[in-house]
Amino acid sequence: MGTKFIAGNWKLNPAEINQAKELAREVRDRTANCSKVNIAVCPPFISLPAVAELLRESRIAVGGQDLYWEEAGAYTGAISAPMLKSAGCSYVIIGHSERRQYFGETDETVCRKLYAALKGGLKPIVCVGETLQQRKAGQLHDVIRTQVTEALRGMDETSLGDLVVAYEPIWAIGTGVTATPQQAQEMHAYIRSLLNDHFSHALAMTTPLLYGGSVKSDNATELLSQNDIDGALVGGASLKVDTFVPIIESGEELS
Ligand code: PGA
Repeated sequence: MGTKFIAGNWKLNPAEINQAKELAREVRDRTANCSKVNIAVCPPFISLPAVAELLRESRIAVGGQDLYWEEAGAYTGAISAPMLKSAGCSYVIIGHSERRQYFGETDETVCRKLYAALKGGLKPIVCVGETLQQRKAGQLHDVIRTQVTEALRGMDETSLGDLVVAYEPIWAIGTGVTATPQQAQEMHAYIRSLLNDHFSHALAMTTPLLYGGSVKSDNATELLSQNDIDGALVGGASLKVDTFVPIIESGEELS
């Protein structure tokens, strides 16, 4: 089934850089015995350099939660791929549903950011997911197809070796409601089929597909055991070492 990948998305937490360092230190120390599972944490921009420095000698990678597509210039408040690189990031989350919902992210901006991330040597974690309304209206596959296709529009397969896709049903994010393993597996298989249609069987089979949405220690093993679920993007449960580490350990066991 391959190596699992567990990524923590800290969102707008914690408030202080020192608290971010402390959390990173605890995760590092408590996962020192893990040797197979891939791990990443995505703190807020402001904490990135400190967390990356702390994790430098560890096997925990660091990622940004967003980026802007321009590299430099008059774009107040923006953070570019070279900046993330220089802060010690190897990953970047793109198109998280909260960015789409609160910050005007569209399929087009997701695509531009994906180009910028790949050009800047960052591994992109592209997020897709439907609302409950869309699922109930039977638009699930259309929504996911559009999000995946538009994000990857014009991409050359050779540049997509580091692509990661996260399926995060919006109704499951931060709600405590998780997609059933069957629901998640079905959509992961669908996303793989889209990659197969647009690119190649090889790319479809090797692109890690993460599930996100109320992943916790008590549902992680079942979710991660599904054929097409290669890992998890964890929000709330990644903010405490006691809730995050058991998820990483599930990934380690299944890797
Ligand atoms: P959650 O968030 O684990 O708190 O549901 C997941 C995410 O938004 O990536």
